Amino acid sequence: MSIFCSSEGSSPVPTPLFSAPATPDTERDEYFDEPVEDTQYVLVTGGLGYIGSHTALELLKAGYNVIIVDDLSNSFRHVFDRILLAAKLHFDRTGGHCPRAELSCIDFRDIPAMSALLASHTVESLTAPQGRSNITGVIHFAAYKEVNDSLRNPLKYYQNNLSGLVDLIGLLDQHDIKTFIFSSSANVYGTLAQDHGSLREEHCVHQKETYRDAASGQDVSVEQGCTGITNPYGRTKFFGEAILADVAASDPAWTIIGLRYFNPIGCDPSGLLGEDPRGVPSNLVPVVVQVLTGQLTELAVYGTDWATADGTAIRDFIHVSDVARGHTAALAAALTRQVQTNFRTFNLGTGSGHSVAEVVSAMESVCHQTIPRRIADRRPGDVESCVAVADRAARELGWTAEKSLRDACRDLWNYLRFDPTELYLS
Ligand SMILES: NC(=O)c1ccc[n+]([C@@H]2O[C@H](COP(=O)([O-])OP(=O)(O)OC[C@H]3O[C@@H](n4cnc5c(N)ncnc54)[C@H](O)[C@@H]3O)[C@@H](O)[C@H]2O)c1
Repeated sequence: MSIFCSSEGSSPVPTPLFSAPATPDTERDEYFDEPVEDTQYVLVTGGLGYIGSHTALELLKAGYNVIIVDDLSNSFRHVFDRILLAAKLHFDRTGGHCPRAELSCIDFRDIPAMSALLASHTVESLTAPQGRSNITGVIHFAAYKEVNDSLRNPLKYYQNNLSGLVDLIGLLDQHDIKTFIFSSSANVYGTLAQDHGSLREEHCVHQKETYRDAASGQDVSVEQGCTGITNPYGRTKFFGEAILADVAASDPAWTIIGLRYFNPIGCDPSGLLGEDPRGVPSNLVPVVVQVLTGQLTELAVYGTDWATADGTAIRDFIHVSDVARGHTAALAAALTRQVQTNFRTFNLGTGSGHSVAEVVSAMESVCHQTIPRRIADRRPGDVESCVAVADRAARELGWTAEKSLRDACRDLWNYLRFDPTELYLS
């Protein structure tokens, strides 16, 4: 197994929770096969981040060899060890052989470094004189994701999330790697969430589409475009999809899937992986975690005067392991070209909403603690309710969310209490 890491990440505020000793390389080697010529890989950019690390684990569990590219801008090097350990524990339990995993701690925008990585994965081919890549698909998580930060630093977002995407696609094109899964977001629906009870993929499209409205039974025609995206981050996801739709339309060899995540929460039941950003989080659950771990004194609840049962806003909270499995389902469909069109979007949501107050209560009930909170004004751009219609992914990818809000809270609490050194000592 190869690890190319230029910088060793370490938490700025080390805590016992995250201080597991790194697994020695020698120890790792025994979990993996020796390289073989026809080994195939999936490249995962941003694979040490919250959703990327969970997806890398699900990919390994599903038998894919994985190459992770991450510049550690919002994650830590030790997450790689945690992914390997969780995979090892899985295969110890279930039998079978753990696939291979590689890590390159590089910026995916660093074209020379990415070119060298791709060159190292070019193998001889009878049909292509210059060789072919043994990377069959790419899942692209790497991006900046903080809405408020994007309002203050829009160019930072356009550079990483869009310029980087364009250059990456160009590079992959040169290497004939044309299966691509893109991390999109429910943010692309903008304020459409105010007009529709639940959001379906056809509400935001990049080619004109028609769908049958369930309530009226009428065909509804939707022009390409978007309505009311309120921040640069959301625009990078919409533009990212639009760019990819154009690339797919220009070349049928591409198969590109945009996965629109709703609100991923929770973590892997092993307690080894969680959400551990370097920056200041703004999403509900990471802030709840900061209150539980004493880094914050209270949770700000933005808006308690929405027209919902308890006055707090409703979101489609989905367990991150379900989101991760959504990627293996999408990848399998894309690799076998079992996708209706060569650019296709899918919502990854549960299809039902929970209020902010319900999430806080569920967390309180699993950890038997009161989470102090303060009522704050609604934030600009917030909507009352944002819930997915999740039928398309069920129908076309065979994927549905399986875990509940309580599962997510329980797994998160498990992660917060878990001391992984026990695993190394046992
Ligand atoms: N978490 C959510 O609620 C959510 C919702 C919708 C969409 N998304 C999207 O999903 C993706 C993953 O989100 P996440 O929550 O796991 O975020 P994250 O910040 O935890 O993970 C992103 C990872 O990418 C890395 N990265 C960023 N820029 C990079 C670069 N230029 N080169 C190499 N690595 C880079 C970071 O170090 C980090 O490890 C992002 O594209 C995000 O916009 C997230």
